[in-house]
Amino acid sequence: SAAQKGGFKHFMLKEIFEQPRVIADCLAGRVQRGSERVALPELEAMDAPERLFIVACGTSYHAGLWGMYLMEQWAGIPTRVEIASELRYREPVLGPGDTVLAISQSGETADTLAGMHLAKARGARVIGLCNVVGSSVAREADVVVHTQAGPEISVASTKAMCSQLTLLTLMAMVFGQKKGVLPADVAAHCVPALEGLPALLDGILPALRERAKELCRVYSEARSFLFLGRGLCYPLALEGALKLKEISYIHAEGYAAGEMKHGPIALIDPKFPTFALAPHDGLYPKVKSNLQEVQARGGKIIALTQPGADLDVDHPWEIPAAWGPLSTFLMLPALQLFAYEMADYLGKDVDQPRNLAKSVTVE
Ligand code: G6P
Repeated sequence: SAAQKGGFKHFMLKEIFEQPRVIADCLAGRVQRGSERVALPELEAMDAPERLFIVACGTSYHAGLWGMYLMEQWAGIPTRVEIASELRYREPVLGPGDTVLAISQSGETADTLAGMHLAKARGARVIGLCNVVGSSVAREADVVVHTQAGPEISVASTKAMCSQLTLLTLMAMVFGQKKGVLPADVAAHCVPALEGLPALLDGILPALRERAKELCRVYSEARSFLFLGRGLCYPLALEGALKLKEISYIHAEGYAAGEMKHGPIALIDPKFPTFALAPHDGLYPKVKSNLQEVQARGGKIIALTQPGADLDVDHPWEIPAAWGPLSTFLMLPALQLFAYEMADYLGKDVDQPRNLAKSVTVE
């Protein structure tokens, strides 16, 4: 009903707009004003993993890919990220001494559970990162960390990913603290920056939505999109493409920007737009030159950028910067809103996309 949607047209839109609160709820009790330390009591008794296998499906897999960067950079943990349906039928080199992190909003995804079972059977330790209390992942993991996203109704996952990214940030910090390798700038800046995120995001969501509305009208005839990003923006590019496919039924491919030259560049023409993630970070010059390659072939570009970037593209979409990797939390809603507004403009059933289920409990 309209009341359940809190005045929003769809659950998906309501859930996108809940993200500032979700971040705050995920931080509650885990970070403290004035303290740089992060506390995750669930992980207190365990050592930092020596090797980490992250296992998940769909949007949760994209969150895991993002988390890999922080686990490596902040905690020095060799990390791989596995699509659960692939891991379960391999002979992974995985056993006692290894740690598996199973990420699942519902905690009931069959492939993710099977990946967990395989890991347990081989003697690995399993951490569950999960939104639903009492779910199978929560019950069967050795240790469970809960995301505080609240119930997610829309089939296309939005706020759950935001909550997963928040907890992955905290987990990477905790493991870095345990090992004594957390970089000093992260120790000094991450907690205050996280605490500032809810207000920052809340302040920009209405403008993000307006810009998403404008842009989807310009690009509504496109049959296919290329989403490009590097580094932390690579998983975001995958997620932006997935969201668009899921609810607007426009084909989209997410690609590592540096890999474009090995194939997708052959597709570029004026009718095949690129949606680029081009924050003003260390990889900006690389992304910029990738986008020049697109332009040289007549490709149209929407680019999420930040103040200070000097991109000359068809449709720049400037958003504020946050500290370090936390800019992700401002870019993700832009991607979600672009897909949402496109699907709504095209008259699709946003909350119940065809052929998809909220939780895939069979293989
Ligand atoms: C389904 C949903 C996706 C979700 C995926 C994994 O495909 O439609 O939105 O990302 O399952 O779900 P999980 O509950 O394990 O995160």
